[in-house]
Amino acid sequence: MPMIVLQNCVVNDYIQAVRQLACEILDLAAEGLWVSDKSAFSRLIRDVHSDSVLRLNHYPAFEDIMDWDPEPKTIGFGEHSDPQILTILRSNDVGGLQIYLRDGLWVSVPPDPTGFYVIVGDAFQVLTNGRFESVRHRVLANSEKPRMSTMYFGAPPLNARISPLPQMVLPQNPSLYKPFTWSEFKKAAYSLRLRDTRLDLFKIHATEKFAS
Ligand code: OGA
Ligand code: NI
Repeated sequence: MPMIVLQNCVVNDYIQAVRQLACEILDLAAEGLWVSDKSAFSRLIRDVHSDSVLRLNHYPAFEDIMDWDPEPKTIGFGEHSDPQILTILRSNDVGGLQIYLRDGLWVSVPPDPTGFYVIVGDAFQVLTNGRFESVRHRVLANSEKPRMSTMYFGAPPLNARISPLPQMVLPQNPSLYKPFTWSEFKKAAYSLRLRDTRLDLFKIHATEKFAS
């Protein structure tokens, strides 16, 4: 069995660097939204108890799969939105990532191994009361070469309460979501299928808004 030895310090350096990048982007977003506390978002992923994770994905070359499974299958990752706050993705030069625009329209994202891809997650949609929307995406690899990708998912601590920032809630723009903890959201996410829109479980419906 091939063994991959990742030097712990290299991975830690990478995590630190992408966390810093995510925090800078979140601070700019806070500034752009006129949030007075510029670190209101980034504080959640800087927290020592932050539930952030690093994931490495490997999508084998189509040919290599055929060697042991003659039935042609789709190699990829099913459609979903990332539940966390912000995802920083890096990949090799093999494509496959697609994002959902609307009306059944999926758009391929060209791979660029020198770039970082920033994906808005569900928790950021809630914190900004829908001003930023999490993006549905999927991977259809089926390529001659393997796709490799690395995702840093910036997440809050498990016990952090997630709800729209007070400045994002106005009489003409009431809160769209019931408050929840990050751990409650994760539990809900695991109880659903990958493609389900988990935020629907925490939406405040028009009748409830009317009653409150
Ligand atoms: C994910 C994801 C994309 C990729 O892991 O959530 O969307 O290119 N990955 O592997
Ligand atoms: Ni994803």
